[in-house]
Amino acid sequence: GSQGMGWGDPTMAPYACQRRTPLLHSNQPLTEVLETLAEEASFSGSEGRSLAFTRAASVLKALPGRLSALEELGPLPGIGEHSRRVIQDVLEDGVSVEVERVKLSERYRTMKLFTRIFGVGVRTASRWYQEGLRTLVDLQERNTKLTRQQQAGLRHYEDLNTPVERGEAEFIGQMVQEAVQRFLPGASVTLAGGFRRGKPHGHDIDLLLTHPEAGREAGLLSRVVSWLDSQGLILYQHSQENSFTIHESPEAPGGRDLLDRFERCFSIFRLEVRGGPGAARGWKAVRVDLVVAPVSQFPFALLGWTGSQHFERELRRFAGHERKMVLNSHTLYDTRRNLFLPAASEEEIFQHLGLEYMPPAQRNA
Ligand code: TTP
Ligand code: MN
Ligand code: MN
Repeated sequence: GSQGMGWGDPTMAPYACQRRTPLLHSNQPLTEVLETLAEEASFSGSEGRSLAFTRAASVLKALPGRLSALEELGPLPGIGEHSRRVIQDVLEDGVSVEVERVKLSERYRTMKLFTRIFGVGVRTASRWYQEGLRTLVDLQERNTKLTRQQQAGLRHYEDLNTPVERGEAEFIGQMVQEAVQRFLPGASVTLAGGFRRGKPHGHDIDLLLTHPEAGREAGLLSRVVSWLDSQGLILYQHSQENSFTIHESPEAPGGRDLLDRFERCFSIFRLEVRGGPGAARGWKAVRVDLVVAPVSQFPFALLGWTGSQHFERELRRFAGHERKMVLNSHTLYDTRRNLFLPAASEEEIFQHLGLEYMPPAQRNA
């Protein structure tokens, strides 16, 4: 029935950050095809088209039940013509011919293969495709110029494309916690990213470090990483220093707004394993992101690093368009009152924005 699916229903509020979006929902076959089209659009450099499909998929994820006819959608926000057509095809025939064609196309398959390499984005993958490269062996045999990060990505391709289990994430979190305690007692390690939203597995492990006393966290990351490295636990790492400074009025949102300037380390850990892939050699490569936030910015960092990516994008769009505020992983700035709004918790950030608090498990937009 169409009850509860109209404009008045809070589940169908126009911004994803206003809707509860659980991990499990009833429209998986539909969101899957829409997300394939979103991915294909981003492979072609059509960010706007990609966002339109992502938005449509996100709306379906928040529906209270399984959609059985297009009419039930009514005037839902954010579902365009093209998306409706694809939804209708899947509802009627179980498949979308267009999506099946995309999935079989050489370009889509190759782009998928290449962008799964750690350190390879759409631009690089696209260039390689244009140069006629099609396989991972091509990359090696044709002496394609690779960064150190891409070389590591290629070396550990299989492991890094095997999902990380929650147990593995918790184990590595514990390992980092112990290393952190050696150098800075009282510092904390928090599991963010998809695992914090309740996902049973993920593509990497996102860990946030902080200390309750401002300033104490400085220099921590390099010590922790050096120590883990000396223990033979790190297969690859590149670190970046903090480059964040508070400006009088921060940059307006937009563009690459999900990138932040925290001190951080993109790494690959060597994880001992007994079963699963890699069992024969006794270890498995796992991607880990380590991020350090000063305690005053921690709630913003936690909110920013919990995702989903679409939820974050929508939160920032809501802040800008509806509240004239600039939200990023460091601060929240009110441009009408010209002041920063401090927060001691994620709840306070939602309060500043005038949004109902969404627990992490409901941020799977
Ligand atoms: P990801 O680890 O890419 O995604 P995920 O944890 O939601 O899913 P997966 O299981 O595939 O790992 O990103 C987690 C969040 O981190 C995402 O919301 C965006 C945020 N992020 C930043 O805030 N700044 C950055 O520079 C990067 C790379 C990510
Ligand atoms: Mn992640
Ligand atoms: Mn990550």
